[in-house]
Order: sequence, then C-alpha cells, then structure tokens
Amino acid sequence: MHQDCERILFSEEQLRSRVKEVAMTVNARYADKNPIFVCILKGSIIFYSDFVRHLDIPVKLDFMAVSSYGDGAVSSGKLRIRKDLDGDISGRDVVIVEDIIDSGFTLANLKALFLERGANSVCIVTLLNKIGRREYDIRPDYNCFDIENEFVVGYGLDYNERYRNLPYIGILKRSVYEQ
Ligand code: IMP
Ligand code: MG
Repeated sequence: MHQDCERILFSEEQLRSRVKEVAMTVNARYADKNPIFVCILKGSIIFYSDFVRHLDIPVKLDFMAVSSYGDGAVSSGKLRIRKDLDGDISGRDVVIVEDIIDSGFTLANLKALFLERGANSVCIVTLLNKIGRREYDIRPDYNCFDIENEFVVGYGLDYNERYRNLPYIGILKRSVYEQ
C-alpha cells in the first residue's frame, strides 16, 4: 500500500467484481437504446474504461472535463467546463459515468445541462457515493459503493492530481492534506 494511505477501502478484486455487476445491470436496461456513455474526466477514466468493457450493446463513448474543485480537498462551488462533449446529445439517452458524488453539485449541474441540450434521458452511474454529504437534490441511478466522509484516492481519484494510478481505492492520510 502507498505510504500516504491510511488503509485500503476497496481492493482491486472488490472493484473488479462490483463494477462488472453494475455494468451488466446497466447493459440490460439499455439493451435497445443505443445510449451515449459520457466519461467525466479525469477522475472517472479508470472506472469508465473497466465499466464500458462489460457492455455488449451498441454504445457511443464521449468525454467531458469539468471541475468543481480547485486543487484542494474543499469544493469551490463553481462548475467549470474544461472540455465539452464532441457530439450532439439531443434526442439521445445519456449515461453519465462519474467517479464520486459528494455534495451533488457536479452531477446536478451536468444533468440539468444535458436535459437543457435536449437529451431524451439522463442516467447517473457512480463508482462511489459519499453518503451524508449531499447538498443538492440528486442521487445516482446506479452506484457501486457507499462511503463515509473520508477523502479517498486511487482508481482514478486524485488529491492534487496525485494517486490516480493506484489500482485500489485508499483512504488518504489526513496529514497529507491537513498541513
Ligand atoms: P460534488 O460536485 O461535490 O458532488 O463533487 C464531486 C467531485 O469532487 C468528484 O468528481 C471528485 O472529483 C471530487 N471529490 C469528492 N470527494 C472526493 C474524494 O474523496 N477523493 C477525490 N475526489 C473527490
Ligand atoms: Mg471528478
């Protein structure tokens, strides 16, 4: 385990089996819909790439980069679009794939934006759901794991752009960000 982690919350094996389970459920629901799977960069890349490889329905992949955080562990309360989708989503069924829902700010804003752009439906898939932190009235349609209020890294998730490549999800030591 990385020395900056307090402990491993979800191992590679736990991630592998749960991501597959959720992906197969979503796959069944969208069997005849030709949906667009939107990866929210950068935190979701690893989850997304594992997730979409379990789908055997016709899908389109697209990417968007937003940030609600600056470079720290506290939300700045502003959603910035850093990279927009390449394709048109009007009339399409959109599945947003996101690493973690915390206050709900990012996903509440994205869902509203996609509906405003004329999406036929917008579904939210999350890897992690930080329960007890919600400030916006939004919840994932599919979620892999509920977690407590701890700052986690790995499997795509970062702190100051670090730790994304850890193959597991670990709880970051408080001493790393409280100094
Ligand atoms: P929200 O907009 O408050 O729901 O925050 C969602 C975003 O905050 C996620 O996409 C992450 O980028 C980031 N975030 C929230 N909690 C964590 C965490 O524990 N580790 C890493 N990133 C986090
Ligand atoms: Mg993110």
